[in-house]
Amino acid sequence: MSFQIKNFEEYQDAYKRSVDNPEQFWGEIADNFFWKRKWNNVLNWNFSEPNIKWFDGGKLNITENCLDRHIYKNGDTPAIIWEPNDPSEAHRILTYKQLLAKVEQFANVLKNNNVRKGDRVCIYLPMVPELVIAVLACARIGAIHSVVFGGFSAQSIADRINDAECKLVITSDGGFRGTKTLELKSIVDDALMQCQSVEKVIVLTRTRTPISMIKGRDVWWEDEIKKVETQGNPACPAEEMDSEDTLFILYTSGSTGKPKGVVHTTAGYMIYTGYTFANTFQYKPGEVYFCTADIGWITGHSYIVYGPLSQGATSLMFEGIPTFPDAGRYWDIVDKYKVNIIYTAPTAIRSLMAFGDSYVDNKDLSSLRVLGSVGEPINEEAWNWYNEKIGKGKCPIADTWWQTENGGHLITPIAGVTPQVPGYAMLPLPGVQPCLMDENGKEIEGNDVSGNLCIKFPWPGMLRTTWGDHERCRQTYFATYKDMYFTGDGCYRSPEGYYRITGRVDDVLNVSGHRIGTAEVENAINMHADVVESAIVGYPHPVKGQGIYAYVIANHHIDAEKTRQDILQTVTRLIGAIAKPDIIQFVTDLPKTRSGKIMRRILRKVAEGELSSLGDTSTLQDPTVVEAIIEGSKEFK
Ligand code: WTA
Repeated sequence: MSFQIKNFEEYQDAYKRSVDNPEQFWGEIADNFFWKRKWNNVLNWNFSEPNIKWFDGGKLNITENCLDRHIYKNGDTPAIIWEPNDPSEAHRILTYKQLLAKVEQFANVLKNNNVRKGDRVCIYLPMVPELVIAVLACARIGAIHSVVFGGFSAQSIADRINDAECKLVITSDGGFRGTKTLELKSIVDDALMQCQSVEKVIVLTRTRTPISMIKGRDVWWEDEIKKVETQGNPACPAEEMDSEDTLFILYTSGSTGKPKGVVHTTAGYMIYTGYTFANTFQYKPGEVYFCTADIGWITGHSYIVYGPLSQGATSLMFEGIPTFPDAGRYWDIVDKYKVNIIYTAPTAIRSLMAFGDSYVDNKDLSSLRVLGSVGEPINEEAWNWYNEKIGKGKCPIADTWWQTENGGHLITPIAGVTPQVPGYAMLPLPGVQPCLMDENGKEIEGNDVSGNLCIKFPWPGMLRTTWGDHERCRQTYFATYKDMYFTGDGCYRSPEGYYRITGRVDDVLNVSGHRIGTAEVENAINMHADVVESAIVGYPHPVKGQGIYAYVIANHHIDAEKTRQDILQTVTRLIGAIAKPDIIQFVTDLPKTRSGKIMRRILRKVAEGELSSLGDTSTLQDPTVVEAIIEGSKEFK
């Protein structure tokens, strides 16, 4: 890992070089990877279309970088350690050699099932090693994966499959999560009633839940592997991909409409996740690294699969939840495998904190060297607990700020190398040029200032487009400020020049570290037969970070409690349980301006309980609406 930054001077030097001569900087880093053919240009770009090309003309396959190139020296190093949901079930370890063999084998299964370069494959699997195998097998043959998180509903899967026109789905009979069994295949069956493009479904056995297998469409993973075995040659040569060929699509919520398919391409994403993984966590060969995310989210893509594997690291993946069988599970895992680096989310830290220190105090956590945090702002109390109780005051904490669209970390402490302050994402990584913008589109210079966070210059891991709708990509990220990538986050820059993310400035919520669009939830609620109109806002929630507060105008709610339950069911069906409102307040009217726009600012204040700072309500169509809403909100305080 010759590009690992070892001290603050090296950071300053790398940062300066990355700004003065980005092409040379990233070109030198790219030289550490395996190319079938070298690139012509490091970077061609403009943010106006946008059109961003990194390492144009280069040929490679990301799986050769994540697997084959480690085999010679480190073939017997564990690539994946898998801890099952039930601690009494046997764990599994796949060395680099074994993982490569399994990826090649399954890549041949995909080929046998008529999947070709450029085809889209939807993956809806629990957190089992076969998920990693499926992802890498797609990349091996140049198929584009679209992983859908196991918590999403049939409708959400169908929307994603149809948007990307997926040809094949990979799922399992079911999945284990704590004491629950998820019926994944049955959910896929429901989804596929709406999907014309899907020809085949490959089903992995995990829970032995009874499921339907449709002749001609559904095949078992295990049977398909047997077929490959009897065919003789198990190898599957890596497809030669262009640097800018699409690697995967991952859907994420924005402030309007349906989730969009963020498109990441091969070379830039590979280099960026590898570079940031090695640097942020200061990974050392032989260490065990545990990221608690689900591979259904970007954190899992970049920092369970591609980043660690491209660096030859040992990546621990966990099937279950932090509170099963009890709230000490993460620490049991750290103890059992002597984990050196743990990367988790503030919501998990807060929820475990609430169970008390007895679940931590009797565990041996002395192997830990670095702690990471991701997904949402970390409050000081959670930061301190993480630092003292888990890190015993000796482990640097990397509070990594980034987004699905970014591919990898943008602003974060480099563990033990650059400074850290609780609640701050601190300094940009080399190659990242952040700036703060005011409402008039002007950059805010200097320190001790706040503004909307933008990035001025491309970095290799950034999104290239949104699937099937390039204009939407331009509009969402590149149209708010000229020649800037707009993050959607607000940010404060301290007198020392440290960055602190203050949260979304658009209508996107962050619930337990999951991005949820208010418009999406409103659309789902409005589908309920009794609902006339609704408005969603976020409010501070002690564990989730933000909770979902719904104001709903219902036709007739003679039985308010029943209607509430029905609305929750509707949201669960249309999006998934993760988008269920925490509070539903029935109202007779919503505060609107004379032009009919809902004044969310007021609704937000009421949800937050900040009634003294409602601001100007005189421009409302009917200012008395606010009184009624405040009165009704008292029920939930
Ligand atoms: C928020 C997750 C504060 C932010 C990797 C961003 C954070 C959104 C942090 C992206 C952090 C993520 N501190 N806020 N360390 N990390 N966020 O796409 O609002 O699921 O825009 O990517 O999460 O969420 P996404």
